[in-house]
Amino acid sequence: MRQAWFDEARFGMFVHFGVYSVAARHEWVQNYERLTDEEYRPYAEHFDPDLFDARALARRAKETGMGYVVLTTKHHDGFCLWDSSATDFSTAAMIGRDLVREFVDAVRAEGLKVGLYHSLIDWHHPDFTIDWNHPRRDDDNASALNEGRDMSRYRAHLHGQVRELLTGYGEIDYLFFDFTYPEHRDGWAGKGPEDWDADGLLAMCRELQPAMLVNDRLGIPADFVTPEQYQPTSPLRKDGVPQVWEACQTLNGSWGYHRDNHDQKSATMLVQMLADSVSMDGNMLLNVGPDGRGAIAPRDAATLGELGEWMRLHRDAIVGAGHAALRPPREGVYTRRGDRLYLHLFSWPLGFVHLPGLAGRVSFARLLNDGSWLRTSATDPGQQASHMTPAGEAEGTLTVHLPVQRPDVLMPVIELTLLED
Ligand code: GLC
Repeated sequence: MRQAWFDEARFGMFVHFGVYSVAARHEWVQNYERLTDEEYRPYAEHFDPDLFDARALARRAKETGMGYVVLTTKHHDGFCLWDSSATDFSTAAMIGRDLVREFVDAVRAEGLKVGLYHSLIDWHHPDFTIDWNHPRRDDDNASALNEGRDMSRYRAHLHGQVRELLTGYGEIDYLFFDFTYPEHRDGWAGKGPEDWDADGLLAMCRELQPAMLVNDRLGIPADFVTPEQYQPTSPLRKDGVPQVWEACQTLNGSWGYHRDNHDQKSATMLVQMLADSVSMDGNMLLNVGPDGRGAIAPRDAATLGELGEWMRLHRDAIVGAGHAALRPPREGVYTRRGDRLYLHLFSWPLGFVHLPGLAGRVSFARLLNDGSWLRTSATDPGQQASHMTPAGEAEGTLTVHLPVQRPDVLMPVIELTLLED
């Protein structure tokens, strides 16, 4: 039962915010550009999130139809958004604000579930060893830099920080650890579950927050799996057992604010991805990267606004819905909630959509956006296709008659009320 709210919600907001938002060229900028601590420090010193408004953010998530929000407490660069006693590389020490506190309070006040993201990686910590992901990996003396670094001390630091987050902020519903990379590469070791003492960390999560969902990126199985920036093509299973899963997706390929990246996904593509996920029993966690002042960029606000308007009318086809064990027509995907079957139309056909196997099983069909009734008919067995009738469909097919004009929404949805099985 730990994930009941999660299965219900289906749609959440990811928020990547930190000093990299000031650099404004991807949250991995320190790694990509091999920046030293001194080169990275100006972004921290000039971190001034005067427009970071947790209440507005939580409200926006709610208006977009999302059921939970997940904030980066610390990303790989080690900068902490809460008042950690273990470091002065934090918003609390540098600007006197505990953004995690502001966030948790605001999200809870909107009635949404509270999620935290926490990086297992820490490029700022003096005991975190250089590996093939570390910004210092190409230094002339790179391996010498590991002398004196002690991962057991780092582990204690990591566990201590997670303990702070799980004890200081009330009930936390969700924790997204990021990430484990045990492979050796370019002559460097990676980092595996033992580097974090993943078992110990997970046990601590269970002890301190027994109802909290934990993702799979400790490198050991936990409560849900996290496809990143791709869509599965069927419900996820492992050894035949259905997996709880959530695809995390970006608006433009970057998680942190990336000013000059204009690879923005359309709102239409995003609602299709959302419906596609739910049709396979998955969730979608959609990211926004607030800008250097903590504001949502206008282009992102516009996209969220469009998604929210679609969700306002089509919420029932997403929230509380899941996989339907029926073959959808070629135009789209199905989701199901109780006796309601929803056909999400990725393309708008001319005049009719043919639904295999549904003849005699549907009592009512309507467009969800305006509740308008749709005529249905079943093909008579043996009826031949002619130049005037849409016959020739397999026996048992239900035909739904559609207006020529596609409803003016991002993605039209047909709601079908199913008769008892
Ligand atoms: C990754 C990246 C990262 C991002 C995360 C979100 O593993 O390292 O920057 O925060 O995925 O899923």
